[in-house]
Amino acid sequence: MSVSTKDLLSADHADADRLLNEVFAALKKADCRDAFELLDLFWARLAMHIRAEHLHLFPAMLGSVDSGLIKNDGPSSKSVADVITQLHLDHDYFMTELAGVIKQMRALMANNESNASPVLADITMTLESIRARLKSHDELEEAEIYALADLIHSPAEVLSLNSRIRKEIENLPPRFVNRTYAGI
Ligand SMILES: [Fe+2]
Ligand SMILES: [Fe+2]
Repeated sequence: MSVSTKDLLSADHADADRLLNEVFAALKKADCRDAFELLDLFWARLAMHIRAEHLHLFPAMLGSVDSGLIKNDGPSSKSVADVITQLHLDHDYFMTELAGVIKQMRALMANNESNASPVLADITMTLESIRARLKSHDELEEAEIYALADLIHSPAEVLSLNSRIRKEIENLPPRFVNRTYAGI
């Protein structure tokens, strides 16, 4: 059964959310190793999701609006482009901040610091900010961009878009394959 682009990517948002909650649970237990592994997976999953949006979703939505493939006189290409610019800024923020947190956690483990290190509190605060921005990012994206995909006239175009997106969001780097994670 075919799934809509909106459902496909919204489900991936929900998966990332659950994963981030697992990171918080591990941090709460001051389980550094677990928190790091879950965070590494969250970071990779978010990067794959963002890549699918940059390479396939955003260009397809802009192209569909420009070429009149959207039903009911959808939004103007200027308004879609403005939303996408905001979404790009959010993506840059997520990737930069997460790279910083990963670096902090690697240093923490390499130095064998106590699991109660104040660095963990700092990491938790940064992740709280990421979680809050991710929530509004996902809401904006789902309402303004994912919803547009449902208005594309051509079922063949939607099928092709979904298969390209799926290829990216299922393309987990080899280091994660065969790893098992507590709780997920
Ligand atoms: Fe996004
Ligand atoms: Fe997204």
